[in-house]
Amino acid sequence: MKPLQTQELKVIGVKVINLKKKFNSFFALKGIDLTIDKPGLYGLIGPNGAGKTTLFKCITGLLTPTEGKVILNNTEVNRKLLFQKNVFGFIPEDVGLYGNLSARDFLHILAGLHGLDKAQRKKRVQEIVDFVGIKYSPNKIVRYLSTGQKRLLLIAGVLLHDPDILIFDESLNGLDPVVRSHVSNLMKELSKDKIVFYSSHILTDIWKLSDEVFVLNNGLLVEHDTPLNIIKKITKNVYYIESDEYETVFSYLEEFSSIEKIEIEGNKVLFQIKSKNAIDESKEILRKVIEKHSILSFGYYEPDLDQLFIKMVSSNED
Ligand SMILES: Nc1ncnc2c1ncn2[C@@H]1O[C@H](COP(=O)(O)OP(=O)(O)OP(=O)(O)O)[C@@H](O)[C@H]1O
Ligand SMILES: [Mg+2]
Repeated sequence: MKPLQTQELKVIGVKVINLKKKFNSFFALKGIDLTIDKPGLYGLIGPNGAGKTTLFKCITGLLTPTEGKVILNNTEVNRKLLFQKNVFGFIPEDVGLYGNLSARDFLHILAGLHGLDKAQRKKRVQEIVDFVGIKYSPNKIVRYLSTGQKRLLLIAGVLLHDPDILIFDESLNGLDPVVRSHVSNLMKELSKDKIVFYSSHILTDIWKLSDEVFVLNNGLLVEHDTPLNIIKKITKNVYYIESDEYETVFSYLEEFSSIEKIEIEGNKVLFQIKSKNAIDESKEILRKVIEKHSILSFGYYEPDLDQLFIKMVSSNED
């Protein structure tokens, strides 16, 4: 997408330092530190109530942190300053569009708020409508738009001022597969020269799209890495034995000193081997198990995304 205007050289980045947010006596964020210092797609996941929306609202200055600070493009967050500097665009998870405005008027008013004059507005709105791929009539009244149509309009709205940082809270949720894939592609395109920080409960999207993933649980950041590294960390040297006698297999495996961690998932016993020679060790363990128990299958453990998510957030519960 063509930038709105030639912009001065600047550092694109989000820095969150020891961020805490307390509601009454409850800490929704308990000390978050994170740095994003280059364009890309950054996913934020975590269970309901983990603090994702609170984090986004603190980053965008909608909530004032109880402690700590947020720095966007080298400037500490200050609502007024950020708006003037056109640093970010935020789509909250619960945004409503209730007005009797047409989609066109909605975009023109927003563009006006960002200081574009009439001639600039017309050009910019058309550019953004084309980029976002809004195909419906611009005369449609925003309150009657469908969920997907609204989402595209909101995305168009936050792109008008060409911000460096886009924060999308659950912007992929509630969309049909075609629109979701369209919005995902837009986000990927935007992430070439912008930071796109987004949350979603749709783990396939998060895993497929994100350059890096942040995992928030109970107000704390419990994981941050590339999707591949996270999967590797969790599944490294983990094997499974499927058996109808999984409980006795579990007890038997507890006797092996080379096994670091054992757990049951359905009728499978998962075990992580700490030996350097994990493959050979796993074969040896299997051989011994087969001598005593009947098994249904054995293999390298490849969790599905839901299981991966549960593992990430359950190992960090307080
Ligand atoms: N204004 C508020 N006043 C009191 N408590 C709040 C407020 N906003 C959020 N909370 C609490 O802070 C915690 C984090 O909420 P938050 O909305 O950030 O979670 P989330 O990760 O976005 O969850 P979800 O996936 O359901 O959207 C929750 O326990 C919530 O009840
Ligand atoms: Mg939320």
